[in-house]
Amino acid sequence: MAKSAGAKSARAKSAKPAKAAEPQPKIALPAMGRKIGEPWVDLPDGKALANWGRDEEIAYNQTNRQTEKALFYRRTFDFITDNRVVGDYHEYGCHRCRTFRMALTEARLHNLKSMNFFAFDSFEGLPEPTSQTSVEIWKRGALTTTEENFMGMVRAHGIYADRVKTIKGFYGESLTDKLKQKFLEGENKIALVNVDCDLYESAVPVFKFIDPLLQEGAVIYIDDLFAGYKGSPSKGVARAFLEYQQKTRWRFQRHLDISWWGRSYIVYLDKHAPVGVL
Ligand SMILES: C[S@@+](CC[C@H](N)C(=O)[O-])C[C@H]1O[C@@H](n2cnc3c(N)ncnc32)[C@H](O)[C@@H]1O
Repeated sequence: MAKSAGAKSARAKSAKPAKAAEPQPKIALPAMGRKIGEPWVDLPDGKALANWGRDEEIAYNQTNRQTEKALFYRRTFDFITDNRVVGDYHEYGCHRCRTFRMALTEARLHNLKSMNFFAFDSFEGLPEPTSQTSVEIWKRGALTTTEENFMGMVRAHGIYADRVKTIKGFYGESLTDKLKQKFLEGENKIALVNVDCDLYESAVPVFKFIDPLLQEGAVIYIDDLFAGYKGSPSKGVARAFLEYQQKTRWRFQRHLDISWWGRSYIVYLDKHAPVGVL
């Protein structure tokens, strides 16, 4: 998802990438107004924003964005638990282990003792983009977190680390038929999948790979539906999802919006479902 002021790029990684295992700088946000009355919303004023700069903007965006995502995970783990959707967590695009930790925490809060957690990433950042994105910093190697750093964050988080498995490699090579077969033989169906790999060409093999691992009630979270390609449905991950829908037997019920960038869908099968708006 793009970061704004910029794109997710900046958002996630920002102009000054910190080493993953190191503590992140804490930036004090301005105190919000205390007034109760017009304009009926807590808006910082010019005085509060007098020293507002790029670091504050990044901290502001990150706090808002990760809060939205954490809320999505809270709601969706409640959905899958309440509906008895049993399966694993898959994440395609793991980087700083932010959403992955949200999944681990929610799984623990719901006492999901049999869920496995699969982290698919190059752990070398993005491949060289072959589609034209609107985010100039999406270049080969951008958004890199090493496998070691990623697993360091998982272990430091202290939840279900023994059930986390990394699958390292660029999807064009790592998502093999052999690996798919292994998942199928283990009856490892997906309960929740986060597709968070930014690029059209990265998402295409992901949808193909997960298709036989889906089940009714599984949730697909597409993080970059409106990011990286100026929100155009004819480009980016949105395009990959639309193309995939032409090929699969699954149907997708729109479920939650994750702010301006993402959306989740519930997987179901009935081609003859009554037509209407939900
Ligand atoms: C935006 S980051 C993911 C953010 C992560 N979910 C988080 O919350 O910290 C995108 C990730 O996708 C990975 N990625 C993108 N395209 C890929 C591909 N074709 N193969 C493997 N990994 C890919 C990058 O390495 C990067 O870690």
